Amino acid sequence: MEAIPPPPPRILIVDDDESVRDVISVLLREEGYNCVVASGADMALDLAQHDETPLVISDMKMPGKDGLWLLEAFRDKHPDTSIIMLTGYGDTEAAVDCLRRGAVDYLLKPPKLTDLIRSIERALAKRRVELARKRYQKKLERKVRDRTTELRAALRDVNTTYQNTLLALVSALDAREHETSDHSQRVVEYTTAIAHRLTIKGAELEEIGRGALLHDIGKIGVPDAVLLKPGKLTPDEWVEMRKHPDIGFNMICPIPFLSIPSQIVLSHQERYDGQGYPRNLRREEIHIGARIFAIADTLDAMTSDRPYRKGTSFSNAIAEIGRCAGTQFDPEVVRAFLDIGEEGLLKIKAEMLARKKAKAEGKVEEKPAVPETPATGTPAAEAPAHDK
Ligand SMILES: [Fe+2]
Repeated sequence: MEAIPPPPPRILIVDDDESVRDVISVLLREEGYNCVVASGADMALDLAQHDETPLVISDMKMPGKDGLWLLEAFRDKHPDTSIIMLTGYGDTEAAVDCLRRGAVDYLLKPPKLTDLIRSIERALAKRRVELARKRYQKKLERKVRDRTTELRAALRDVNTTYQNTLLALVSALDAREHETSDHSQRVVEYTTAIAHRLTIKGAELEEIGRGALLHDIGKIGVPDAVLLKPGKLTPDEWVEMRKHPDIGFNMICPIPFLSIPSQIVLSHQERYDGQGYPRNLRREEIHIGARIFAIADTLDAMTSDRPYRKGTSFSNAIAEIGRCAGTQFDPEVVRAFLDIGEEGLLKIKAEMLARKKAKAEGKVEEKPAVPETPATGTPAAEAPAHDK
C-alpha cells in the first residue's frame, strides 16, 4: 500500500500590502504549500490561534503593530512557530534585530522565489529538528521523574525495613524483660519532644529517636541471672549489669545507619556531672542525644508504676528533674524540658495511649515508632532496681 504523503505545512503570510500577499501566496501555492494570508499582526495572531501554524512570513514595516511586535507575540504565544521576516533595503539593522529576537531568517523585499523556498525549507527543517529535540527532552524528563518516584518508593521500603529491624531488635529484648511495657516508646516520644524544643530537626532528630529506642539493647547480653533477678544485685552482678551500654554499642556501631544512635546507646547511662557510667563522661563529652534521653528516661521511670512502688506525679518528677539541672542533667536541656511543661508532657503520654488503644482496636496503622519494651529508668529521686 502506498503511503499517503503528509499535508503541506501551513504558511501564514502577513503583509499590509495586498499585492505582496497575493504574489507570495500564489507563488507558494504553485509550489505546493498551503498558504493563508493576513493583512496585519492582530489578524495573524487570530488565524494562528485556530490552526497550527508552523511558519509565518511577515513584513517588517506595517502600520500599527509591526513585524517586530508580531515576532515577540509569536515567541510568547506560539513558540514552536518559525518566523521569516521580510525587510526593505537599508533596514539591515532591524533585520539583525529580528534574528536576535528569534526570527529564523530575513529576506529583502521583494524576495526571489528560489531564495524564499530555500529559506522556507531551511526553517521547516530546523523546526522539525527542534520539535524532535523537545519531544526527546520531555521523554527524558518523564523518565527521570518516573525513576525518581521509583527510587523514592525504594528508599521508603528500605527505611521501613530498617525501622522494622530496629523494632525486632527491641522486641527481642522485650521478650526477655517485660516488666514495664511501652517504656521505650514513651522515652522516644519525650526525647523527640525535648530535642525538638532544642531546635533539633530532620535527620539528627531521627537519629536521636533511634538512639532512645535502642538505648538498652545491650541488655540482651546481660545474663538472665542478673537481668531478671528480683532482688538487689551484688557488686559483681552490678559489674555485669553496667556492661550493657558497651555491649549495645558494640552490637550496633558496625552498622553505618546506626552510627549516631550507637553513641547514644554507649552514653545513655552517663551523667552531666561525670558520675555516670561506663566512662564517667562529663558535660558536652556526652552526646547531646544521650543528655536529652537521660531526662526523658528519668521522667518515665519516675512516673511509671513499679511492682514495688507507685509512680509519682508528673509535677513531682518535673520538679525533681529541675532540681538536678547542672548535676545529673544538662541545664540547657532541662530548660527545654521545662518549657514543654506538665501539660505538654501529659498530652504526649495521652496521645500515645490513644494511639495504642486505636491500634489494639485495629483502627489505625501503628505509628512508626517503637514496640513495647522494658525500661531502664534512672530517676533522680528514686532509681529503679537495676539501672543506677
Ligand atoms: Fe540502660
